[in-house]
Amino acid sequence: MDFKIIFVNPMTVVINLLLLSTVTDAICILPPELRNTEWIYKYTKPDDNQPITTTLRIQNTVLPQQSSVRFNALGTTMDAWTCISNLTLSDTESVAVFKSDTSYSDGPFGGNRRLYLCMKFTKVTDNLFYFYLLSDVDNTILPNERVFNPPENSIPDDSDPLCSTFCQYTSEPKIRTLQKTGTTDVVPSDAALCTPCESPCEEPYSTVAGHAFTATLPLGYTPVSIGSPIKYTLINSASIGSEYNAATGIYTVAKPGIYLISVSMMSGLLTASHLTIRKNADVLVWLYTNNDYDMASQTININLAANDKISVVVNSGSSLFSVYNTFSVLGPIE
Ligand SMILES: *[C@@H]1O[C@H](CO)[C@@H](O)[C@H](O)[C@H]1NC(C)=O
Repeated sequence: MDFKIIFVNPMTVVINLLLLSTVTDAICILPPELRNTEWIYKYTKPDDNQPITTTLRIQNTVLPQQSSVRFNALGTTMDAWTCISNLTLSDTESVAVFKSDTSYSDGPFGGNRRLYLCMKFTKVTDNLFYFYLLSDVDNTILPNERVFNPPENSIPDDSDPLCSTFCQYTSEPKIRTLQKTGTTDVVPSDAALCTPCESPCEEPYSTVAGHAFTATLPLGYTPVSIGSPIKYTLINSASIGSEYNAATGIYTVAKPGIYLISVSMMSGLLTASHLTIRKNADVLVWLYTNNDYDMASQTININLAANDKISVVVNSGSSLFSVYNTFSVLGPIE
């Protein structure tokens, strides 16, 4: 039999192990404003609803010993915590999980158990954060508090998925605040826990989910007939869909929602004119100009259903003058 002896350099093994361990270790980076600061920490005790004001020291990624977050678990004091994992959800929202530095045991064969704090933070300003503890109240520790206390036979790994492992709860937690000494920023009155754990919760900016367009009449006089929709033909739009039909002048709603509709008119020299903005057969608003190049305009916001038809109908008059006549639709606005 022929075989080779492969010489393995023990140093290489050590280096590989080190590299491996840095890759697989969970890491935590707290929001920069939170780090290395002593905070005024206000909360309501979950066991007796007493309001508490204390201080919470956060070093780079730890709540150092003799932290105000302190429990007694079967005789063992847990008052030092190290962040093991974080989740950044937006510029203001993040979740961080802290693990107790000490472990406790519930008997000679009980193994080592640790506690975990799952904090969902919202930054209000650099001087003010609020957070929720995303666990149910554990009655086996004193004082009773919202911590994750896994049984000895299912100790999670630090790198396990943060929300689904460490941040489970059934009863709604209460808000807690962290404020820098000497500052006066206040928590917004609508501050609330946004769920689930991995949701960024920020109010989305108003966005137009549909599209926007503006159409005008061409230069010169456009003859119009009473009772008919005006056919605005020159379309200035980055995002015209098939909803507006320039051959009929009718806009057919594709997506239900709130729309902004705007019409301006100029009747020129021939006759005074009335126009109406209509939803299906219903008149929404009127426009009127005299026959000396006056202008009128209307802008409305309206909730529309799919297949509603919006048009601008002539109620009196015989012609309109030039590109001063516009028809714009924007929506749906969320
Ligand atoms: C942890 O926080 C840092 C700093 O905010 C961020 O860059 C990183 O993406 C976060 N990790 C996760 C998994 O979101």
